[in-house]
Amino acid sequence: MPVPLLDLKAQYASVRPEVDAAIAEVIDGTAFIGGPKVAELEDKIADLCGTKHAVGCASGTDALILALEGLGIGSGDEVITTPFTFVATAESISLVGARPVFVDIEADTYNIDSALIEAAVTERTKAIMPVHIFGQAAEMDRILEIARENQLRVVEDACQAIGGSYKGRPVGSLGDAAAFSFFPSKNLGCAGDGGILTTDNEELAAVSARLRTHGTGKKYYHDLLGHNSRLDALQAAILLVKLPHLAEWNRRRREKAAVYDRLLEGVSVGRPVCTDYIEHACHLYIIRSPRRDEIVAALKAAAIGTGAYYPVPLHLQEVYRPLGYSQGDLPVAEAACSQTLALPLFPEITEEQQRQVVETVRSVVG
Ligand SMILES: Cc1ncc(COP(=O)(O)O)c(C=O)c1O
Repeated sequence: MPVPLLDLKAQYASVRPEVDAAIAEVIDGTAFIGGPKVAELEDKIADLCGTKHAVGCASGTDALILALEGLGIGSGDEVITTPFTFVATAESISLVGARPVFVDIEADTYNIDSALIEAAVTERTKAIMPVHIFGQAAEMDRILEIARENQLRVVEDACQAIGGSYKGRPVGSLGDAAAFSFFPSKNLGCAGDGGILTTDNEELAAVSARLRTHGTGKKYYHDLLGHNSRLDALQAAILLVKLPHLAEWNRRRREKAAVYDRLLEGVSVGRPVCTDYIEHACHLYIIRSPRRDEIVAALKAAAIGTGAYYPVPLHLQEVYRPLGYSQGDLPVAEAACSQTLALPLFPEITEEQQRQVVETVRSVVG
């Protein structure tokens, strides 16, 4: 029986009447851009994150860009980040004209190694951009301490971690600003692209709201060079239907991750390492083996969804060749890229499906 990596059809089936009604309401009302649905979603995401403000925009990538621009980070500046993430993290830094400075990761959590950050700080460093990779918060207390000592901003890339927390504080409320993605495969996904920025900083919220709408606060008067990066009302309406289910969906993700932990006992693969003071959003369930490619091939042959997140670390991507990094510079991230893979994980996955996945993994590694 095929097992998908994630099953958006199962999720849609569980909320279909409400989603269809919400879409019809927006179409009937014809307020397609901005409007009450976007404002309501912003209020509710700010509540979820415990922040004063949330600013909806066109994608998680744009939320990162708006945060950096709104904090005044640009040409000549450096931003410290992780190489073990989706390209959008570093891309946002490059697109505002700054330079990403990559720091290696922890071998167990795959998050940026906070013990290595200080050595990467220079007089050009303006910010740290930790990523809560796979849904687990980075070591934020130490990162915030380094930022305080060096007068740096912290922009959380929380695109994979909505609903997660660190020492009881929600992700999205930990740094100066945070970015979330509503890409369809995310724990809270819309029906296209969408994103949101959260912050307690009133000025940043106001500036980023102007930046997302062509740098305007008053129609046809433009004081900033901005973007067209608004969140569609249709997407906001769909997200408002799904948001009340997020906590339960995340709880089920954690429950299913625990099932994998149990089923994988005695199977010779590395399992995710979770820190007890972090509530994991369990976006992806990642295992590790030097025989990764054989496992991926076996899963694919059994029609089981899988993927290498991420096959190439960002410092070795072609686009970042001009930064001058070489193979061996960030060995922990490089090893992770050659050994990790994701197993299917979504709230509706059954234990039978999980057993099938684990048996296929076991058939390769024993
Ligand atoms: C870690 C990370 N950062 C940034 C992004 C960018 O989000 P989006 O695809 O909504 O632009 C994503 C998601 O794709 C992501 O996983």
